[in-house]
Amino acid sequence: MTNSTAPARLVVLISGAGSTMRAVLEAQRDPGYGASVVAVISDRADAAGLEIAREHAVPTSVVALSDFSDREAWDRALAEEVERHEPDLVVLAGFMRLIGAPSLTRFGGRIVNTHPALLPAYPGAHGVRDALAGGAKVTGCTVMLVDEGVDTGPIVAQAAVEVWDDDTESSLHERIKTVERSLVAATVGRMVREGWSVDGRRVTVGDTAKNLNTEDDA
Ligand code: GAR
Repeated sequence: MTNSTAPARLVVLISGAGSTMRAVLEAQRDPGYGASVVAVISDRADAAGLEIAREHAVPTSVVALSDFSDREAWDRALAEEVERHEPDLVVLAGFMRLIGAPSLTRFGGRIVNTHPALLPAYPGAHGVRDALAGGAKVTGCTVMLVDEGVDTGPIVAQAAVEVWDDDTESSLHERIKTVERSLVAATVGRMVREGWSVDGRRVTVGDTAKNLNTEDDA
């Protein structure tokens, strides 16, 4: 970003329904939000969220693992596609693949993910199912910075959701997603407006140290 008054450029990665991405698209209608989704990229051509992005006139593209000879080639292609849109922040909103070294090297510290459990409890692809099976009475959602591990990055924000006795994976996930959409939209907005700092495992949003690449030449 070369103008500190311009909205931060968000590139959003999705794999599915895209309801979290939609929450960010709706939040950015507020001119004070401070960020704008400049591209939506999916690893799946059939991700329903791609249509939502198109309805919002946001450019979309698909980088499918099956179109590449191996995982490394896909990782490189994904990083290049993200970089093409010059993101200030990369937002994984229901992106169901691990981010590889090419993206971590280029955008390290500027990639956020959201997970449907209170990390470090229940990481991985089945956070809701695992919380239910584990007998948790409270679970929730976590927005975290992405590192090389599976849901192991420093935690930026969390919100709790009560588990009900008659919950199924689907009913619990829907209740989490309602809270998660607001948490992601609000957290991304705060990060781009106020900056953030990381000290070990601890993330502070609103510190004076800006992590965005903002060159104040306005
Ligand atoms: C969200 O609950 C998100 O936390 C989860 O996928 C859902 C996306 O829903 N992501 C993961 O589990 C990543 N490990 P959406 O497609 O409707 O935004």
